[in-house]
Amino acid sequence: MSYAAVHAPAVAAAARATGLTRVYGAGETRVVALDSVDVEFGRGRFTAIMGPSGSGKSTLMHCMAGLDAITSGSARIGEVELTALKDRELTRLRREAVGFVFQAFNLLPTLTAYENITLPMAIAGRTPDRAWVDRIVHTLGLADRLTHRPVQLSGGQQQRVAVARALAGRPEIIFADEPTGNLDSRSGAEILGFLRESVHGLEQTVVMVTHDPVAASYADRVVFLADGRIVDELHAPSADAVLDRIRRSEGRARTS
Ligand SMILES: Nc1ncnc2c1ncn2[C@@H]1O[C@H](COP(=O)(O)OP(=O)(O)OP(=O)(O)O)[C@@H](O)[C@H]1O
Ligand SMILES: [Mg+2]
Repeated sequence: MSYAAVHAPAVAAAARATGLTRVYGAGETRVVALDSVDVEFGRGRFTAIMGPSGSGKSTLMHCMAGLDAITSGSARIGEVELTALKDRELTRLRREAVGFVFQAFNLLPTLTAYENITLPMAIAGRTPDRAWVDRIVHTLGLADRLTHRPVQLSGGQQQRVAVARALAGRPEIIFADEPTGNLDSRSGAEILGFLRESVHGLEQTVVMVTHDPVAASYADRVVFLADGRIVDELHAPSADAVLDRIRRSEGRARTS
C-alpha cells in the first residue's frame, strides 16, 4: 500500500449526524421530528434527501447547518461538534463553513443581485474571490442581472441568485432545501446541472432536499427519511429507481 494510502486520514465526512434527535413541543403537542438519525455526508459528494411531507427533511438540514437546536445526539460540520459551540462560534461557523439555499430564497429586497450574492462575505468581513464569483455568476446565467433587485427578477432568477449566494464563499458544505421546487423544468435542470458540476468539477459538497425523482437522479446518493428516521438509501440513483423506491414505500403505507 502506498504511503498516502496508509497515512491519509479516512475520507472525512463534510458533515455527520449521530443519534441526532429533535423534539418540538411537549405533552400533547410533542413531535419527534428526528428520531436518532445517523448519517454522513461525504466530502465532494452530492446527496439528495427524500421522504414524505413532515418526515423531517428540513429539520435535518436546519440542525446540520446550525440553524436549529438539537435535542440530543451530535451534529458535526467537518470535525466541529455543533452542540459544543457557543452562539457566537455557531454564527461564525454558519457564516464561514455553510451555504444554505432556502426554499423561499430569502433575498434582501433592497440589495442588488450582486450584493445579495456577496452579502454573507460582506458580513464576515471577507473579500469575495472575484474569479470564483464570476465563474458562478456566468455559469448560472446571472451576469446581466447583477444590478437588478429581487423584484426585478423572475422566480427562477431569484432562485439562481440564492444558489450563487450559497456557493460564493466556497463553504465546506451547501444545504439546499428544495432548490428547484418553484422552477420550471428547464430552469430546474440548469440549477441541478450546476450543483452537480460544482460537486464534481469544483469540489463542493451539496446536500439537497427534493420531492422530484428526476432532481434526485442528479445526486450521487439518495437518503430516504420517514417519520424522522433514515429508512433507506440508493447509490448512483436513476429517476426510475427512485420512483420505484417511492412507489414501494407508498404501497407499504397503504397496506399497513
Ligand atoms: N418549529 C416547529 N415546531 C413544532 N413542530 C415542528 C416545527 N418544525 C417542524 N415541526 C414538525 O416536525 C416534523 C418534521 O417537519 P419538517 O419541516 O422537517 O418536515 P419535511 O420533511 O421538511 O416536510 P416537507 O416536505 O413538507 O417540507 C413535522 O411533523 C412538523 O410539523
Ligand atoms: Mg421541508
